[in-house]
Amino acid sequence: MKKTMISLKFAAIAALSLVAQAVSAEQQVIKAGHVLDVATGNMKASQYILVDDSKIVSITDKNPAPNVKQIDLSNQYLIPGLMDMHTHVVRHLSKNFYDGYFQSPHRATIGGVVNAEKTLMAGFTTIRNVGAADYMDVALRNAINAGEVPGPRMAVSGPSLGITGGHCDSNALNHSFEERSDGVADGPWQVREQVRKNVKYQVDVIKFCATGGVFSKGTKVGQRQYTFEEMKAIVDESHTHGRTVAAHAHGTEGIEFAIKAGVDSIEHASYLTPETIDLAVKHGTVLSMDIYNTEYTLSEGKKNGVPQENIDKEKQVGTRQRESFSHAVKAGAKMVLGSDAGIYPHGDNAKQLSRMTQFGMTPLQALQAATINAATLIKWNDKVGELKPGMYADIIAVSMNPLSDIKTLEQVNFVMKDGKVYKHDKQ
Ligand code: ARG
Repeated sequence: MKKTMISLKFAAIAALSLVAQAVSAEQQVIKAGHVLDVATGNMKASQYILVDDSKIVSITDKNPAPNVKQIDLSNQYLIPGLMDMHTHVVRHLSKNFYDGYFQSPHRATIGGVVNAEKTLMAGFTTIRNVGAADYMDVALRNAINAGEVPGPRMAVSGPSLGITGGHCDSNALNHSFEERSDGVADGPWQVREQVRKNVKYQVDVIKFCATGGVFSKGTKVGQRQYTFEEMKAIVDESHTHGRTVAAHAHGTEGIEFAIKAGVDSIEHASYLTPETIDLAVKHGTVLSMDIYNTEYTLSEGKKNGVPQENIDKEKQVGTRQRESFSHAVKAGAKMVLGSDAGIYPHGDNAKQLSRMTQFGMTPLQALQAATINAATLIKWNDKVGELKPGMYADIIAVSMNPLSDIKTLEQVNFVMKDGKVYKHDKQ
């Protein structure tokens, strides 16, 4: 008798937990004060978002499932998780500029784990990492995807391709050290080989340096580095293997050659001209312009030991890049948010949004750059970048209407990625 009672009790518990799993473990309803359709700018009040496992099932006026777990965000504005298309998330950020030179890949990867979490908590549920030695970003992406560590979805490039002595090489030590960055490759066949190697180790995107840059030793920002032939080889090989291409390019000629070679995005795009803007518009090339970080470098960077050479180059580029940004916005070029996080502390990514509005975008355009346009660039627009049925439940919430106060995105109260809540500050 006693035995039967016990087994009955167990059966009841088992049945109950099955029911519990079927009902609440997978489905949840978010009661939203407002939901923004980033594609149209339409803001709808009092909506219910039904989430099943990792995906959005419906967004409706009536509660579709009052019996499943409810998340109350009825005083919040909900938008898709933000996306930053230019980050350097692996590397432990130290106050001293030169520390980076002495960091092992292992230490840098652990830094990446810390930075990825900060980025996610700031409301960035997807990032593109452009440039990491030793495929550190591939490892981090995989660990995040496996649910081992919290972080955004990552589209990663592995080592950036660059010419010997160029912006994507390391040039600080004298020749006896034989220092050379991971992705250095010269000539059309060598660059094809490096693209193949990156594909072999499972990158999502290919990054190369078309011109000099601010934070490299001995390069000129305006100077083109790869030849047109090399750029074409990189793009052809990458596209053959289904990878999009991001080209670091400050100078005009490098921008022009990269667009003509068929890259998917131009990073920085500082020295745009009316002609290169037209070219970008004509080719549908996306511009990813990091217009937030200038002041940070000029004040904090200087304190932290950024060499004078690099400070001088930043002074040269900052203002010109912002003018280029305004012109590109007016011309209707495709643009994404790319902030170069890592130059400034991770988690401050949303601070670029108000700069984007200051230099010509409407708040909606800035939000589109940080969501739907970014998703389209990396070809993930069937998964992320909008709140609609079938998309991943990557959802963030803020207290104010971001269309009238873009800075509200610097203080995100709620972060859901893949249907999982990572942050919920009760307001
Ligand atoms: N990674 C870029 C470079 O070193 C950063 C440029 C930052 N400055 C700017 N104004 N966007 O060239």
